[in-house]
Amino acid sequence: MKCLAVLVSGSGSNLQSLIDAIATKKISNATIELVISSKNDVYALQRANKHGIASAVVARRQQSETEYQNRLLGLLKDYQIDYIVLAGFLDILPKGLTDHYRHRIINIHPSLIPAFCGKGFYGMRVHQAVYQSAAKVSGATVHFVDGGIDSGAIIMQRSVEVFADDTAETIAQKVLQIEHIILPEVVDALVNQQIKWYDGRPFINKG
Ligand code: GRF
Repeated sequence: MKCLAVLVSGSGSNLQSLIDAIATKKISNATIELVISSKNDVYALQRANKHGIASAVVARRQQSETEYQNRLLGLLKDYQIDYIVLAGFLDILPKGLTDHYRHRIINIHPSLIPAFCGKGFYGMRVHQAVYQSAAKVSGATVHFVDGGIDSGAIIMQRSVEVFADDTAETIAQKVLQIEHIILPEVVDALVNQQIKWYDGRPFINKG
């Protein structure tokens, strides 16, 4: 059984999709042992509490980079975490942690990377940019986390169409529905060693 830590900063609907996928066995051989939030009083922490999952708040701004890294690594070691999932997490992980967990950390981003990603592109800002650009498709991306912002190797993407009567809010809603489908699919493949590398590019291969 693989132990997961889910890192959050907000409502936690992606965390909930993982909790539900484990309960319905869409994700096999894994348990969520720890939820780490970058902020206090976010709804994601209530979801963790409701499902009896241990949680901690680790705010980057209240400590030095080294203290922040050691606090995170200490928690992950205490709970014997094998894989880390960033689900609506808004802080940047320290390099020591991303190196230590190389190819064992994934993030969900609400756009089709490399479009509408990187510094400043998070939450509704992404969907407003998609709306203003008149893009005809948007979507979500699950990728490995390296030392950069939304720069790790892409594992899975799925798109949604953008119609004339869409708003940034309706685009966000459509994309969030996609997120709740692809993130559990990727977590299941990750913990069951079904992500294979082809010339430096990861693909899910359940064969
Ligand atoms: C999601 O769109 C996620 O991709 C983005 O933040 C939004 C909220 O996620 N990073 P959640 O409901 O907190 O999981």
